[in-house]
Amino acid sequence: MPISANALVKRFMTYRWFNSPIFQRWAGVSPSLQEGKVPISIDLLVKRIKVDRCFSHPIFDNWAMSNPDPLTIAALFHQLQLFCSSTRQGWHFPTALKDLGLSVQGKLMTEIVDSESNHGSALAMMAGHIVNRSARRTICPNIGDQKAVERQLKEFSDSIFANSPGYNRDTGLTGQARQAVAVFERRKLSDRRSTYKNLGTTLALELVANQILIPGMKVCLVDSSLYGVTLDEPEMHYLLEHWGEIGAEQQHERKAVAAVATALNESTQADIVAGIDEFLVSLVRLLDVMNEALRASWLLRCCQSTCVCAR
Ligand SMILES: [Fe+2]
Repeated sequence: MPISANALVKRFMTYRWFNSPIFQRWAGVSPSLQEGKVPISIDLLVKRIKVDRCFSHPIFDNWAMSNPDPLTIAALFHQLQLFCSSTRQGWHFPTALKDLGLSVQGKLMTEIVDSESNHGSALAMMAGHIVNRSARRTICPNIGDQKAVERQLKEFSDSIFANSPGYNRDTGLTGQARQAVAVFERRKLSDRRSTYKNLGTTLALELVANQILIPGMKVCLVDSSLYGVTLDEPEMHYLLEHWGEIGAEQQHERKAVAAVATALNESTQADIVAGIDEFLVSLVRLLDVMNEALRASWLLRCCQSTCVCAR
């Protein structure tokens, strides 16, 4: 398949130096601002997030291009669903904000958490449906049974990721997914610094979810035509609900920006930025390991066919 100019630009943006301080200074995100020496505006924080490597990660384009095997798809969904599940829990975070006198921010976070409840079953249904479509036979027989689908996804994850360093056989989490999940465990803490870090993490999460993860899933699952699915079928409800101008993620992004904008000042910015960076660093590592699984699937399929590397 020919590589588009857009894909080439995205590949270029994945190089590590793209996130180096010198590049970020050029992009208008001075490292000195991140160190709390100068007041940071919400616009600059958003800009900081948007120049991160997560925003140019090639994983979804690679998925669409490589047409991965059903086993790999199931393994990737397992990592994704456990990560997404960890981001839906509010734990003590909304209450901790209220305890700090940030009741408006606490209310906004509660609204985000409430709107995410019960999304696990919709995600499992979409995952099972895509795995079945990819295999052209029924691998997940009852996609309405969340627990049954998740059990199957884990089994496939065990076979794909079992030899990756740090893989946990009990949970089926890669080391990278575990670190990404651990960032959201911080919501169980209610001290001041953890709470401001949680605000930063939420801002980065909602921007990435709305602008990268959900549109990326639409690209590889729907727009690619690999699975013959459309947004309006009931099995794809998860994507329909989250995607687009009136989707849940658009609302979450607006609420997260509003919450951080009104809590941002010289005494809180260092912790907010730390929370942003912890999330972005952990997520990009998770996307990298998932991207490697796609590459392995593509190489296997490629070398089993009559392509040049099999000759
Ligand atoms: Fe969200």
